[in-house]
Amino acid sequence: EADRFVNDLLSRMTLEEKIGQMSQIALNSPEGPKRDERILKGEVGSLLFVRDPVEINRLQHLAMEKSRLHIPLLFGFDVIHGYRTIYPVPLALAASWDPATAERAQRMAAREASAVGIRWTFAPMVDIARDPRWGRIMEGAGEDPYLGSRMAEAQVRGFQGDKLSDADSILACVKHFAGYGAAVGGRDYDSSDLSEEQLRNVYLPPYQAAIKAGAGSLMSAYMDLNGVPATGNRWLLHDLLRKEWGFRGFVVSDWDSVLSLTTHGFTSGPEDAAVRAVHAGVDMEMTSTTFRDHLADAVKKGLVPQSEIDDAVRWILLAKYKLGLFKNPYVSLDRAQKELVSEEQRTASRSIATRTAVLLRNEGGLLPLKRDVTSIALIGPLIDSRPDVMGSWSLGSHPEDTVTVVEGFERSLASTGTKILSTKGVEIERGQPSIFDDQFPSPKPTLTTDAAKEAEFHHAIDLVKQADVAVLVLGEAQTMNGERASRSTLTLPGKQQQLLEAAVATGKPVVLVLVNGRPLDITWASEHVPAILDVWYPGTEAGNAIAALVFGNAVPGGKLPVTWPRSVGQVPLYYAHNLTQIPKDRDTRYWDGSSAPLYPFGYGLSYATFSLAPMKTSATTVHSGGSVEVSVEVQNTGGLAGDEVVQLYTHQRSGSASRPVRELKGFRRIALKPGERQTVTLTLDTKELGFWSPQTHRWSIEPGVFDLWIGTDSNATQHATLDVTPQP
Ligand code: IFM
Repeated sequence: EADRFVNDLLSRMTLEEKIGQMSQIALNSPEGPKRDERILKGEVGSLLFVRDPVEINRLQHLAMEKSRLHIPLLFGFDVIHGYRTIYPVPLALAASWDPATAERAQRMAAREASAVGIRWTFAPMVDIARDPRWGRIMEGAGEDPYLGSRMAEAQVRGFQGDKLSDADSILACVKHFAGYGAAVGGRDYDSSDLSEEQLRNVYLPPYQAAIKAGAGSLMSAYMDLNGVPATGNRWLLHDLLRKEWGFRGFVVSDWDSVLSLTTHGFTSGPEDAAVRAVHAGVDMEMTSTTFRDHLADAVKKGLVPQSEIDDAVRWILLAKYKLGLFKNPYVSLDRAQKELVSEEQRTASRSIATRTAVLLRNEGGLLPLKRDVTSIALIGPLIDSRPDVMGSWSLGSHPEDTVTVVEGFERSLASTGTKILSTKGVEIERGQPSIFDDQFPSPKPTLTTDAAKEAEFHHAIDLVKQADVAVLVLGEAQTMNGERASRSTLTLPGKQQQLLEAAVATGKPVVLVLVNGRPLDITWASEHVPAILDVWYPGTEAGNAIAALVFGNAVPGGKLPVTWPRSVGQVPLYYAHNLTQIPKDRDTRYWDGSSAPLYPFGYGLSYATFSLAPMKTSATTVHSGGSVEVSVEVQNTGGLAGDEVVQLYTHQRSGSASRPVRELKGFRRIALKPGERQTVTLTLDTKELGFWSPQTHRWSIEPGVFDLWIGTDSNATQHATLDVTPQP
């Protein structure tokens, strides 16, 4: 029925109306002010960044009532980790190691965004990132294709809900196809050079998982992949995506990325860019106007076959149809009132923020802190910041909704006599303005003279000396991550390291709460600061969630979705590397330092402790196509309830190509009360043991011996072998 509807509509459209559907206007671009006249003429398929429900309905009314064909507009927005209520950043969602948590966050985000009329999000970003210098690492699930795939499909489910036509479902857009996270040097927008082996085994699986989960749209990337711009790359967008994978959604370019094909030195100008982007497989152009300006002429000149235009428009109309926009184009205005930063949204955000924190160190069980001390020093540039704790891509948020760390501590300690001695100590120096500076201008420093800075620093250290315990909230400002926000260092920005060292030098117990979008160089802290809790960017309920974790109302149970390097010189560093010349000692690749990570992938502590009984496998031999069960009993041996994540890693001993030393192939997060035991059984499907071989140029499961490890991080030591025999 959908196909019939779309084909009928298509048969009634002029070439200009078709090109209109392929064009998206960004509100804050030169086209923004012309939106009304363009909509009336049927020259717009979608709008980006319009988010006032009254305005959305007004524009939709123009399209539905005043344009010739009454085709609804699709309103898109970057709902990356929440719309108005901000949830932890996607890297943090991945740190939950719980797809249900990621799904819940995006379901809540979809409910809120759709309540104002946004029915399309530019998420999930599923780009594998193995270089923490890259500012967008916080938007994805980290370094691992298996974890990344589970998070990708969970987020798609969350956004799209049970049925796309439900009023609270929004269309997902898996991005940025493909390999955007592998930018050379971690520099955003720089080229990605990936062998087909790396691409197919590491970078592509999460996109494929998102598509299998039903993602209705996909965004092409800015950069070139192996020398061909992703937005003009027919192999990527047509041969692989459409023919091999059978993708049935539509493809949108990134912002101006069609126009930029000429910047790449790929196309000769805007007309050539439009022609070759469409030919490659881009269905809708974001922001730039090469389609609108040149496609009609190009078709008339025979540079673009009419069938390529029709195919593009068909995918776009089909998505609008599936969203139910032809039948229900308008948003009901009272929904926004009920949904925006509702108590339900806040509760979900707070609970998710407690599930995504990772406890990196806890010497002597310093955490959780006791509430009944005389005083706590709460120090650091992020203790009272509202935008910073939300992280990048919080464009729909209102900073005043955010609970600061000071507010969270005050609430949590209200019924006690404990005094909070708080001050910033230092300000974060922000460097370059971010691309979102017009919306979130970096605050002006209040400490302008050296004398004022020094006095504030000393004041902070005096407070630490007066208190029983100090909590330092340090890390990165909101604008230090995200698009065009890469770093050449991983140190704590500004004078935060000095502040930390001075606080520790007082001899008082110090807790470091890290607010960050990437692993930072905390090698010094890992030796000198007894407790380190990584909360990433927790979102709107940051202060309440952090207080709950610090005082033990919530117990951290997250695990690292990325390998944590010791210094920037080690990056890229990831656990699933290949082993070549057998080193006697694996930790000797650098003569001037360790080559081992500071914290391995999958690592994270709890306030509880756990022990694992010997692992069991249901078989030692399995034929290709079959599966085995790997199980282990976990016991909570501590005094508090807590969560543990059981992780299964595999390794292929020999075959047609070198294989990584370990690869994650299963995991489950469980909650256990003190003394409680639970057997976790993970099913290892041999399909998971397959890979794309650069020798055979195809994906297959190669029979042979595999190592299996089970444990609670990527250094898991319990071991078994599995003999995979050919398919009978
Ligand atoms: O969705 C984003 C994309 O990730 C980066 N460029 C801009 C787009 C729209 O905001």
